[in-house]
Amino acid sequence: MMIHIPNVLTPEQVARCRDVMTRAAWVDGRATAGHQSVQVKKNLQLPESAPESRELGQMVMEALGRSSLFMSAVLPKQVFPPLFNRYDAGMTFGSHVDNSIRSHASGLQIRTDVSSTLFISGPEDYDGGELVVEDTYGQHSVKLPAGDMIVYPATSLHHVTPITRGSRIASFFWTQSMIRDESKRSLLFDMDMAIIKLNRDHPEHASVVELTSVYHNLLRQWAEL
Ligand code: NI
Repeated sequence: MMIHIPNVLTPEQVARCRDVMTRAAWVDGRATAGHQSVQVKKNLQLPESAPESRELGQMVMEALGRSSLFMSAVLPKQVFPPLFNRYDAGMTFGSHVDNSIRSHASGLQIRTDVSSTLFISGPEDYDGGELVVEDTYGQHSVKLPAGDMIVYPATSLHHVTPITRGSRIASFFWTQSMIRDESKRSLLFDMDMAIIKLNRDHPEHASVVELTSVYHNLLRQWAEL
């Protein structure tokens, strides 16, 4: 299940990211790649210890905390500190699956259940550079407005098509979910969205409280803390 979360960052926050990044010291993205992905990865990254990564990562974390759609879709237990990458013309990232376990310099270690890409460049800034995610229903190509984010199961094969003009800057990170099983996580999200619609259209309906109770009791059954 892929979910588009619009307006995670405001236009002012996107502008702040771009401003900081023009002065940042980018390094070869292969620094954080695994054995397989290092062979197909050609991009630039901000080191996770760079002050820019910390400042902007904190901004992204706070924005996630305000996003009810992210909370509902991902049911986060632990978010890995957001990283930042840049693809210039000619850069690309071939087909790969993200590492299952990520370790941070802080000692934090998480299981990567959900991958997220938050677009800082807009579609008008570059050509190519689509994020293509494969699932059982085929390939899904994603290129979103600046400030928007896509979340998808970290179990998915995915790639970034070559950039043919301009630069594509994004934040990317992984989340360990309270719900490890993607199908259960997806069911809970669908149910939450249905309850929100029912509550909006028929707030007095007795089923609102009954279904909310079922939602929370399923979450109680399945959540790993
Ligand atoms: Ni990846």
